[in-house]
Amino acid sequence: MAVRCWLVRVGSLAWRKEGVTTGTGGGGIIFRVAFQFRRAQVSPHPKITMSTTLSATSQLDQLKKFTTVVADTGDFESIRKYAPQDATTNPSLIFKAVQQEAYKPLLEKAIADNSSSPLVGEALQKKIIDDLLIAFGCKILDIVPGRVSTEVDARLSFNRDATVEKARELIGLYKKAGVPRERILIKIASTWEGAQAAKICEKEGIHCNLTLMFSLGQAIACAEAGVTLISPFVGRIYDFYKAATGKEYAGAEDPGVQSVNVIYNYYKKFDYKTQVMGASFRNLGEILELAGCDLLTIGPNWLEDLQNSQAEVTQKLSPEAARNMDIEKIDVDEKVFRWMLNEEAMATDKLAEGIRKFAADIVKLEAIIAKSI
Ligand code: G3P
Repeated sequence: MAVRCWLVRVGSLAWRKEGVTTGTGGGGIIFRVAFQFRRAQVSPHPKITMSTTLSATSQLDQLKKFTTVVADTGDFESIRKYAPQDATTNPSLIFKAVQQEAYKPLLEKAIADNSSSPLVGEALQKKIIDDLLIAFGCKILDIVPGRVSTEVDARLSFNRDATVEKARELIGLYKKAGVPRERILIKIASTWEGAQAAKICEKEGIHCNLTLMFSLGQAIACAEAGVTLISPFVGRIYDFYKAATGKEYAGAEDPGVQSVNVIYNYYKKFDYKTQVMGASFRNLGEILELAGCDLLTIGPNWLEDLQNSQAEVTQKLSPEAARNMDIEKIDVDEKVFRWMLNEEAMATDKLAEGIRKFAADIVKLEAIIAKSI
């Protein structure tokens, strides 16, 4: 029995090594894999049998024990394959999805359903996009047991009242489709106006996911606003520092990982209920280094790698550890928020760029719709 498992394990290690050399793994993984491989080779002791049993569990299943795993995709087949609790979408993912043959019928239906609408021009395009977002959301909710995140138009990122209005509209459309608000997270950019919009929404029972998060100031404003969940963008922080320094960061040295650590520890230390969902990953090491975070939303390529590896996953973040840390409380009002954001070039650049990119993909989606109506 032990020998049979051991052979399985050798096979999986060989696969992992291959994955690493093609550049899909982080430095931390190389170390862990090498370490386990050595242990398995030298000792037939019963201890190995235990370690072997552990190793038969995929990294994805191990991670699910510490962290709620969420799929970051608009692709239904991927969502089905990795059995996440929740799923997240964004304008870029929806734009990408509707360009695939399999998802075109969703767009066609949203257009057909509005063929006798009294709306015209831009207003009609916006209604079709809303219907399309809801169609994607409903399909995803047929697959996941939990929630789906649906993003408001990024062009509303500096308009509190219009964001609240759009959130109410989306929740209304979901209600018409028979989906209760408990299963929806309205995604809003983490601007000051976005956090204030979320504060109003949360009071109405509309749960929010504050996205495009790059700094502690943004995170504190969102926690103070009582938002349900935030999405710090690990990989885009990494992109910024890699471009600025030319350095490849790995594991705990990754500035994206460090940013999530700081936010997570701050939240747990001061007992905020807002949950932290790490998002936007560039390598498997970033994900593994955040094991223990409340949630992680992970793209299909990394879910696949996690599924195919049996290397050990260890918990890195915990509320207990955070509570024992010496952390200073910061009062964040609008002036402090803007000051903190402005002081951090990375956060200022990445927030602005993120809003521009999501807005650009909505404009592209509108252009596709404009041609068909
Ligand atoms: O959930 C956030 C994510 O979709 C953004 O990822 O890879 O575009 O930075 P990325």
